[in-house]
Amino acid sequence: MITIDRKRLEKLQGREEKRFIADHPRSAALYERAQGSLLGGVPMNWMKKWAGAFPVFVAKAKGAHFTCVDGREYVDLCLGDTGAMTGHSPDAVVQAVAKRASEGITLMLPTEDALFVGEDLKKRFGLPYWQFTLTATDANRFSIRIAREITQRPKILVFHYCYHGTVDETFAGLHDGVVGPRRGNIGPPVNPQETTRVVEFNDLNALEEALKQHDVACILAEPAMTNVGIILPDPGYWKAARELARRYGSLLIADETHTICAGPGGCTAEWKLEPDMLAFGKAIGSGIPGATYGCSEEVAQRISARMHLEDCDVGGIGGTLAGNAQSLAAMRATLEHVLTAENFEKMLALAERFNEGASGEIKKHRLPWNVQRLGCRAEYTFCQRPPRNGRESAAAADFELERFLHLYALNRGVLLTPFHNMALMCPETTAGDVDQHTRIFAEAAVELAS
Ligand SMILES: Cc1ncc(COP(=O)(O)O)c(C=O)c1O
Repeated sequence: MITIDRKRLEKLQGREEKRFIADHPRSAALYERAQGSLLGGVPMNWMKKWAGAFPVFVAKAKGAHFTCVDGREYVDLCLGDTGAMTGHSPDAVVQAVAKRASEGITLMLPTEDALFVGEDLKKRFGLPYWQFTLTATDANRFSIRIAREITQRPKILVFHYCYHGTVDETFAGLHDGVVGPRRGNIGPPVNPQETTRVVEFNDLNALEEALKQHDVACILAEPAMTNVGIILPDPGYWKAARELARRYGSLLIADETHTICAGPGGCTAEWKLEPDMLAFGKAIGSGIPGATYGCSEEVAQRISARMHLEDCDVGGIGGTLAGNAQSLAAMRATLEHVLTAENFEKMLALAERFNEGASGEIKKHRLPWNVQRLGCRAEYTFCQRPPRNGRESAAAADFELERFLHLYALNRGVLLTPFHNMALMCPETTAGDVDQHTRIFAEAAVELAS
């Protein structure tokens, strides 16, 4: 195995940074202007984290491609970090949204589309009842509230290095085995130790220890971790974890926001998970804001018994625009025409092609890295064997190397997901798009290894 020469990496990074600036004069000018009105020069603070001196400003996007304001074209393997896993602006969704927009966007009243969506979700995930929010964050927050309310327990349990959106309770980490605010946590309302238990993924003993105290309302979990690289569950892990949750009276909430990449019914359907609740956002409306959470018959009965008509608008579960006509129209068109079994078949094969291409180059250049795949999502991590938990995966992170590979790809027309090395396939992605990444990845490997 080779080791990366840091001096060489620094030199290559400098060269790529210069190339990026030279290639994007219009984005540079817009970024400069944005300093005067946008905090940090970006519409959202994490947009500063893109590789390169400034973010690329987008002119237009369709399917698996976008064009920036400098007229450069890109293969988009980031796809809005799953928000556009459907491909950008799929025709069926554009038409449905345009029609709905001309006929009323938000009314605080239901439209028939909501029924189609509820019925479709019921078939996909096997849970009978659904509610809608604007973000996956809210879907998770409201699921947690329901779990707390019906169990009358204060704590939630998450996995170390999880990400479930900007849910306060989940910004917790383990520091020498002790729960505390996760690094970078801005203004935590309380020390998350008060609200949260954190255990490592794939550790059943730790899970049982944490549940044993009978104060955990719910386990909020991605069936496979996706936000610290892809971490797959050990064989039998979920069957045992599901059993432990039942034994100790904690609800299991599956956050399928990213793991929907596994198939039309996410990991819940693929692996027969039987969660008590499930949250799913981002791609559900092809990027039109919308998300959902669903629950079992038992959860539905328990929460219905505790909610009273007079207070149902002030219980901390809501949002004026939640369940609006526009987002339901987008969800209906997405579920009916885009996130179909047929499209998933194509997307899964492409992710496998990505995996084989990148793995082949890793082997050829004796790089101590590996590639994991979950459905139509593939990701490389900088360690030889796939990590089994958040700690192992975080230990393998290499910020400098990651930035270099992202910038190298961007300069050659391929966008990877920022913050980790993830590539996502949409129905419009082609084998040629995947091979373009493999070629670039191979060129980068040669430069790093020589
Ligand atoms: C697993 C998971 N759940 C929930 C969310 C939150 O989604 P949103 O930011 O759209 O609320 C994210 C965001 O990345 C996520 O990765």
